[in-house]
Amino acid sequence: MYRLICVVGARPNFMKIAPIIEALESQPDIEVTLVHTGQHYDDNMKQQFFVQLGIPEPDIDLGVGSGSHSQQTAEIMKRFEPVLAKYAAQAVLVVGDVNSTIACALVAVKSHIPVIHVEAGLRSGDRQMPEEINRVLTDQLADLLYTTERNAEQNLNREGIDSARIRFVGNVMIDTLKKHVKKAVPVAKSLAGIDDGDAAKKVEAGYALVTMHRPSNVDDKDTLTRLLSTLVQISAKLPIVFPIHPRTAAKISEFGLQALIDNANIITLPPQGYMEILGLMANAKLVLTDSGGIQEETTALGVPCVTLRENTERPITVDQGTNTIVGSDSAAIMATVDDILENGGKHGRQPELWDGNAAVRIARDLSDWFRQRTQLDKAG
Ligand code: UD1
Repeated sequence: MYRLICVVGARPNFMKIAPIIEALESQPDIEVTLVHTGQHYDDNMKQQFFVQLGIPEPDIDLGVGSGSHSQQTAEIMKRFEPVLAKYAAQAVLVVGDVNSTIACALVAVKSHIPVIHVEAGLRSGDRQMPEEINRVLTDQLADLLYTTERNAEQNLNREGIDSARIRFVGNVMIDTLKKHVKKAVPVAKSLAGIDDGDAAKKVEAGYALVTMHRPSNVDDKDTLTRLLSTLVQISAKLPIVFPIHPRTAAKISEFGLQALIDNANIITLPPQGYMEILGLMANAKLVLTDSGGIQEETTALGVPCVTLRENTERPITVDQGTNTIVGSDSAAIMATVDDILENGGKHGRQPELWDGNAAVRIARDLSDWFRQRTQLDKAG
């Protein structure tokens, strides 16, 4: 029996780990221990994802909570080290690019435990982005790297990572999307009771979904003011549904920007559960976002996506999917939105191996990988 510690920490990790844990249940030789770092902890940022996606309760919750990047990363490392020592795992599996990903990968290698990275090799080239640092370093530490798109392997090779450690398996987040999309919560239900019960009616003829939480967009007052003013302009053309991330909510309040959006045709919501956001994405005319995951999910759903960033680590969503990278310039955003409203936007096609079976491929490959390592250990 091989013991594998799977790590999750923040919201985007949950839809990635869910299909992996499910697929590993069919591998009797692998026993999973699930560790949640506690990077995200509110019910609507964590628990409802566990419930909706059927993720088992974590065996260990490190309970780190929020902090600056360095504090948070250091605190996760301090708390993860004794857990790793106690559970005597043969490997640690991390997903994505959040602070929990790099923190646990670093503890594992320092404890001589191999690291498996799911969603390896994505690069935006933008080192100002905390996730880019997490990606580059986690990939350097990983023994086994599972990729979602073919060009990731070239990125990894360029950084000296040998192809023998890389496996192109597809996209586990799209496994989750394909499994749940038919049961997504209807838009009217997610909006029931909002705006004196009027919200669902307001969006009947179509709406744009907005999500925004990157520090580069929300932490600077001028940038956030410009982006919110642009949303107000867009909302004169079609209603906007805007679930607000806690970081963004805190900044809107700190900068006194609530009044800017109050009188516009913008329906604000608290952070939504997975089944709710899936329904909201699938039925939107377009999505404006700075999220990495939503760029991929809109491509899988065939919904036009306007990315409010200067770059993307997920170029396949632009080359093959429905994504357009626009940045935070107001005129550029308006021009792209107008084009989508007039012409329908990009249709795109499904990227290779985004077929709902990525986690099954990972589980099978992992079982072989463990066996081969054990044979090598015995031989050596
Ligand atoms: C983190 C990830 C980011 C991911 C995002 C998804 C890193 C570097 N960033 O960013 O890649 O796209 O999650 O949400 O790991 N907060 C709450 N409740 C919670 C969690 C956070 O209110 O349950 C608030 C806190 O005020 C906290 C702030 O949100 O300071 C930011 O949380 P944090 O995890 O540090 O970063 P995110 O911006 O969420």
